[in-house]
Amino acid sequence: MLVFDFLQLEWLPSILFLTVFTLLLMKEEKNKRMKGIKLPPGPPKLPLIGNLHLLGNLRHRSLENLSKKYGSIMLLQLGSAPTVIVSSAKTAQQVLKIHDLYCCTRPASPGPNRFSYNGLDVLFSPYSDHWKEMRKVFISELLSMKRVQSFAYTREAEVDKLITSLSQALPEPVNLNEKIFALADGIIGTVAFGKIYGTDQFKDQVFHNVLGEAMNMLASFSAEDLFPRIGRIIDALTGLSGRLEKIFHQFDGYLQMVLDQHLDHARPKPEQEDFVDFLIRLMKDESNSFRVSENCVKAMLFDAFIGGIVTTSTTILWAMSELIKNSRVMNKVQAEIRNCIGKKAKVEGKDVSKLKYLKMVVKETFRLHPPVPILPPREAMRGFKVGEFDILPKTRILVNVWAIGRDPNGWENPNEFYPERFEGRRIDFRGSDFNLLPFGAGRRICPGLDMGATNVEFTLANMLYWFHWELPNDMKREDISMEEEVGLACQRRTPLWLVPISNSSQVE
Ligand code: HEM
Repeated sequence: MLVFDFLQLEWLPSILFLTVFTLLLMKEEKNKRMKGIKLPPGPPKLPLIGNLHLLGNLRHRSLENLSKKYGSIMLLQLGSAPTVIVSSAKTAQQVLKIHDLYCCTRPASPGPNRFSYNGLDVLFSPYSDHWKEMRKVFISELLSMKRVQSFAYTREAEVDKLITSLSQALPEPVNLNEKIFALADGIIGTVAFGKIYGTDQFKDQVFHNVLGEAMNMLASFSAEDLFPRIGRIIDALTGLSGRLEKIFHQFDGYLQMVLDQHLDHARPKPEQEDFVDFLIRLMKDESNSFRVSENCVKAMLFDAFIGGIVTTSTTILWAMSELIKNSRVMNKVQAEIRNCIGKKAKVEGKDVSKLKYLKMVVKETFRLHPPVPILPPREAMRGFKVGEFDILPKTRILVNVWAIGRDPNGWENPNEFYPERFEGRRIDFRGSDFNLLPFGAGRRICPGLDMGATNVEFTLANMLYWFHWELPNDMKREDISMEEEVGLACQRRTPLWLVPISNSSQVE
């Protein structure tokens, strides 16, 4: 047999010689290519896993620690993926502004690929004409300031529900995590799906379980992410691929049901078009220069749920945690709100623009607790330089927004919750101040910025107006846990239990 002959002993020296010679040639070739190239510094690597062993559960913290040793731009090897970590405002500006065009694509990854119907969404889509078109659709129809204002009725209805449910709990402790998640979910669900959301027909508890599982899957590394060549086999053997498929099919089933319900000719015309109605209109419009398929509609809905709910609820919960720990700030922000609103029954949307201190409280929360502590990965589409260092094509890029918000070179007493630091300063979170990047920056900046910030500010304003807040039982301020847990967002590890006390000074 040919294979057997080939392995005969007399061939062995020649094979060894050829292998060594080829390896030497390859090394020489690589050395030539790398001549004059200066890569960012980074920790020594282990065979196969590279630097994976250096990442703890809270990756933003492990990476911040490493950046203290290796600098604000460093190179890690995560499995087989060379990954650059950016940890200062100056280097973030280089990447997200100066070289944004060279690195605004996303690397392919099995979980995101599946849930985004192969990149038909915005969040996980590679940089392409499709991404540009879909991003425009997202902004004009769901997230522009004009649309955000037109969805005010939904926001107000959900905040009213929250206030009623808190009033019913008086004066018992409430699990704020549950209440605030329900609020964010109600706003996004209704804006995206319309009135069907939350009805029996929708059976939303099961939907939430599936959504939760989908988020967990997206937050964890798969072997294929780290070792593209052999990872697929490992994922199949560990059962990860099977689980991914199962959750995807359940999630897809829900989205298909919503789509079918909207496509049903017997459905009465809604008073206000929701996001699905709009996307269906786009799907049927043949004059469009770009095609919108059913899968594309579902991918866009996936983004609204993944992008909009946990980020908003997480921010509100961190803000309440910081306020209950800092009675000075709590008293000051409540005094501002009550002075401004006077004896009105509730805070209205238009009042929020006058609440300057509340806005500083929200900025300070975003600085210390950005819900997305490390921006979703980008990938270099071509080589470029950051300072003296070369970033090679195909390198993954992670911006550690959490580390930047706590960088002592950018902020005085960075670990202190001190909203006054924004007084008289024009620092904002809209992507032009690289010290404060809770929504990212550049071409990939969060298109839900206005909706997210408005939901957070409006909800907090009402919660702080309607109630005084106290700690349950004999709990002391210093006992409040600020431990983090990272999934798709960096959330509180334990639920926040607080006691709402009626604010008797306002008109009922
Ligand atoms: C407090 C609320 C929110 C925060 C803190 C937040 C944060 C972020 C961040 C950090 C990114 C990544 C930006 C980058 O890669 O540079 C992002 C992207 C995105 N967000 Fe948000 N977000 C919020 C609310 C929302 C809402 C309400 C929606 C939609 C309903 C949304 C939809 C998206 C989408 C579609 C993207 C992908 C953009 C792209 O890749 O082009 N977000 N968000």
